[in-house]
Amino acid sequence: MSQLLAGKKGVIFGALDENSIAWKVAEKAIAHGAQIILTNAPVALRLGTIKDMASKLNVPLIPADATKNEDLENLFTQASQHFGGKIDFVLHSIGMSINVRKSRHYTDLVHEDFIKAMDISALSYHRVMQTLYNKDLMNHQGSILCLSYIAAQRTFPGYSDMADNKSMLESITRSFGYYFGKKNGTRVNSISQSPTKTTAGSGIKGFDAFYNFAQAMSPLGNATAEECADYCITLFSDLTRKVTMQNLFHDGGFSFTGVSEEVMESFLDK
Ligand SMILES: NC(=O)c1ccc[n+]([C@@H]2O[C@H](COP(=O)([O-])OP(=O)(O)OC[C@H]3O[C@@H](n4cnc5c(N)ncnc54)[C@H](O)[C@@H]3O)[C@@H](O)[C@H]2O)c1
Repeated sequence: MSQLLAGKKGVIFGALDENSIAWKVAEKAIAHGAQIILTNAPVALRLGTIKDMASKLNVPLIPADATKNEDLENLFTQASQHFGGKIDFVLHSIGMSINVRKSRHYTDLVHEDFIKAMDISALSYHRVMQTLYNKDLMNHQGSILCLSYIAAQRTFPGYSDMADNKSMLESITRSFGYYFGKKNGTRVNSISQSPTKTTAGSGIKGFDAFYNFAQAMSPLGNATAEECADYCITLFSDLTRKVTMQNLFHDGGFSFTGVSEEVMESFLDK
């Protein structure tokens, strides 16, 4: 395999179990020659299988709640000590909404839970970047990525407050991308991924219908977690040094398809 990340050092948030998109990114980053550190919320270390992954890959696992600035400061200080210098890439693969988990209707949300979901799923991206920016821990022309969904632009009933969180996530991508680009050429992007069968994905009411509809609409079919990981690797690599402040659709063409023949056929009079 080509070594697109040879010599690069990265921090990967959000590997919970082997279905997680971040899990696939971690495996591929190492296969491409990177050194990595895994991190997740302390509760995820107890519930998921990330500890097994860290020992299998022989990489450090540092707990950090992405909504706590002190956890992030500790994480990145330890990371730079471990790497013996600055960081080349960061994956923010984090999302959680109690309103979605409890299948609450969008017109009947609990706002305390809405705020919590926004902190976890969107503001944490700002917290991560603010910590890296103020501690000057990103290498020149580094790359920072998060994962989004097309409900940021279009309405998908059932995606609930996560749609609003993803809109904010993409806005933070543009806003921080400007300042990080000016500072030292660091790229900041979001990938808007197809519905993917993971813990976070499957928690959405009607997920299977979302998944099957997107599959029928996309000329290339839904992008898998593994394919998403491949795309992440290109964006961490030196091949994409001038791509920044973008929301990049990785969805088999779903976002620009008006309607597919398969979907049309399902509306034919029988
Ligand atoms: N699965 C999909 O259909 C899909 C589609 C588009 C985008 N995404 C996005 O991809 C990203 C990764 O999700 P996934 O599908 O791999 O599911 P996942 O459930 O495997 O990953 C979500 C991760 O967020 C972590 N997390 C939650 N609260 C946290 C906190 N306070 N601090 C640190 N980490 C925390 C969880 O522990 C978990 O590891 C999310 O942003 C999700 O919204 C998923």
